[in-house]
Amino acid sequence: MSAIGSKGLILNEKLIFERSTAGRCGYDLPQLDVPSVEPDEKLLRDEIEGFPELSEVDVVRHYTRLSTWNYGVDSGFYPLGSCTMKYNPKINEVVARLPGFAHLHPATPDHLSQGALQLMYDLQQALCEISGFPALTLQPSAGAQGEFAGMLMIHAWHQAQGNKRHKVLIPDTAHGTNPATAALCGYDVVPIASDGVLSVEAVAAAMDDSVAALMITNPNTLGLFEPNIREICELVHSRGGLVYCDGANLHALLGICRPGDLGIDVMHFNLHKTFATPHGGGGPGAGPVGVCAALEPFLPVPVIMKEEDGYRLVTDRPLSIGQLRTYASQFGILVRAYAYLLSMGPQGLKRATELAVLNANYIRARLEGSYHLPYKQRSLHEVIFSDADLPNDCHTLDVAKRLLDYGFHPPTIYFPLVVQGALMIEPTETESKQELDEFCDALIAIAEEAKSSPHLLHEAPVNARTRRLDETLAARKPRLRWEKG
Ligand SMILES: Cc1ncc(COP(=O)(O)O)c(C=O)c1O
Repeated sequence: MSAIGSKGLILNEKLIFERSTAGRCGYDLPQLDVPSVEPDEKLLRDEIEGFPELSEVDVVRHYTRLSTWNYGVDSGFYPLGSCTMKYNPKINEVVARLPGFAHLHPATPDHLSQGALQLMYDLQQALCEISGFPALTLQPSAGAQGEFAGMLMIHAWHQAQGNKRHKVLIPDTAHGTNPATAALCGYDVVPIASDGVLSVEAVAAAMDDSVAALMITNPNTLGLFEPNIREICELVHSRGGLVYCDGANLHALLGICRPGDLGIDVMHFNLHKTFATPHGGGGPGAGPVGVCAALEPFLPVPVIMKEEDGYRLVTDRPLSIGQLRTYASQFGILVRAYAYLLSMGPQGLKRATELAVLNANYIRARLEGSYHLPYKQRSLHEVIFSDADLPNDCHTLDVAKRLLDYGFHPPTIYFPLVVQGALMIEPTETESKQELDEFCDALIAIAEEAKSSPHLLHEAPVNARTRRLDETLAARKPRLRWEKG
């Protein structure tokens, strides 16, 4: 078994309320050198019952121990499919913390923030070059907000043409945020069945004059490239619709193909997947959106312009869908992505894509035979297995829990929904062959255990801090507040 987290000093921790000792204090104020006054009662907060009383060292140890519970890509392999938990080189963090970037107030006037505006402009140009779109906004703070911006632009474009279209076609292999976004924008979502990849015929059958757009995730959530994408775009365009691409998986295509060249009209990026900036915990992200020339007037404001005397944030754009957030962008994430782009260079980005695809296919080849592989095609950056071949009532959840005993964070499970009992593995380019081999060895051993000793799977995890939780009870009756016992 891997050494990570499986034995040794696993620090346990009570709630901070349970650590409290009446009268203990965590601060020591200097003697008062002014007359003391009793503040007005109205200004005083009511006593909080059970408020924890701890010393400084109690508090430091409490939070330090809790921090060791936090599994991250810096602790080990994190093969969450669709989430792209790749290593974020520390140089990106160093650059983002440079005082000129980190301390720049977002309301600083343009003429005093030229460096930051130049970085944004150059990043914008680089993303346009990588993706093949002529124009782009850096404004959205997440992939899903990028989708929202993109669909609002599609809506605004149709409105400007006098079109009243109300449907959006979405294949069953799309990321879950796609239908949610279309619905949020007021569209009727029309699902299209695919056979792993979307056929031109399936789109033709659903396409009519009420369809505003097709929203497609490419590579899709099965980790497969959509080979008919050009013909599909032509078909949708010929019927007056537009094509939105969820480009959050662009790291499978860098330096190899440009969605803008395939006929896509709008695409968002997930900088916090593709360009190594951290992803997770709902933390800050950035979801820039690239658009074709026809949609450029609808970009959200402010738009960054390069003019003779420098860079400027422009808001006077009559057709714009408006402003999506306070200030111009999630700037710190842009700095990290830009640092990543510069340090990798065009060849480095292409190499990262090749390695991400190689790693996923290596895992596919090693695990095929031990786990059911519903789609036999070569995958791109991620690969999906299922529990269909597991015997003795062993299921995906059991495999995931047993992986914890082997010291590995499980992959994404039960997603995508088109595969029943899915195990969705995305190794990313940052893992070595040794790491991938240890992970595959663990999964192969678990498949063997499913045959010979299934109780090991049903009882797992036994080496983790907590045993298997009652997730239904936790979801139905969550205990969100501490109560004195
Ligand atoms: C394919 C795909 N689309 C959209 C999203 C949504 O991005 P975000 O979580 O930044 O809103 C994700 C998130 O990982 C994704 O993987």
